[in-house]
Amino acid sequence: MFKILEKDAAAHNVWRYVIAAPDVAKKAQPGQFVVLRLHERGERIPISISDWDREAGTITLIVQAVGHTTRQLAEMNAGDQILDLLGPLGKPAVIEPVGTVACIAGGVGTAIIYPEVRRHWEVGNRVLTLIGARSREHLFYQEELAAFSDRVLVATDDGSYGSQGLVTDLLHQLIADGTQLHQVAAVGPIPMMKAVSEITKEHGIKTIVSLNPVMVDGTGMCGACRVRVGDEIKFCCTDGPEFDAHQVDFASLLRRSQIYARSEVDSNSAEMVEAGCDGQCHK
Ligand code: NAD
Ligand code: FES
Repeated sequence: MFKILEKDAAAHNVWRYVIAAPDVAKKAQPGQFVVLRLHERGERIPISISDWDREAGTITLIVQAVGHTTRQLAEMNAGDQILDLLGPLGKPAVIEPVGTVACIAGGVGTAIIYPEVRRHWEVGNRVLTLIGARSREHLFYQEELAAFSDRVLVATDDGSYGSQGLVTDLLHQLIADGTQLHQVAAVGPIPMMKAVSEITKEHGIKTIVSLNPVMVDGTGMCGACRVRVGDEIKFCCTDGPEFDAHQVDFASLLRRSQIYARSEVDSNSAEMVEAGCDGQCHK
């Protein structure tokens, strides 16, 4: 069992958990994730490790309450226990001194980019952090990111904070201003990572994306997380989750994610019916 030590709201519908997991904290690296299961009959879900404290033996997870299990997790509080927590899984991000790096996050992808921003800073890269969110209330980790960035630029879809537009508008602007980028790291919704990849491909800038498909076992056994990268089929859980963006087949990744999203809607509807909800309530 893994005890939740702290829980608070990071942003709208996004929760931050500090969890006692000493063995995971000891080995966690940027880019890695855990697979957790809340109870005996629960599904296994992957969640990126956003931070860790090796001495305290804790890890920090940032979770958007969007699916069945993440909504159950949102109802748990400090003192509650998570049944299983397996990790750290996945290959650590390869972060080396390269010069100027743009770390780009969309929405909850901010939680995943944070340890990468910190590592880029530690190895001596010039770090430009670009954050995109729907609105001010969806933003989080700005101060934490600022501590390890030369600049943090923010865009919101509705203009309620930073400049109005998409995070890719910030990237276009940086490039138009003549900023020479040696590498880009992008984490967020698939269409955002695809859009970033298209821009950087045009400008010949090496780009790494962190993919977040549905996973079942998280250990390379089930095939649920497969993705086409170049001419090969890769498993995100064991070969990734980070890949060369210019090799990723985003179209098939998007199609597969939409199939799973429909299943999630069906399971949510079934759950609402079971709970006596007529669709008008806010359950
Ligand atoms: P969101 O839909 O609120 O988008 C966040 C920001 O991304 C937007 O404000 C915008 O700046 C940018 N963006 C979105 N679509 C874009 C496009 N077509 N072109 C350019 N920029 C675009 O994001 P959210 O609700 O936080 O996350 C939604 C999805 O992201 C979820 O399905 C989740 O599974 C996925 N996700 C992926 C990862 C990952 O590891 N890759 C991490 C977290 C979440
Ligand atoms: Fe099963 Fe990756 S989650 S192979």
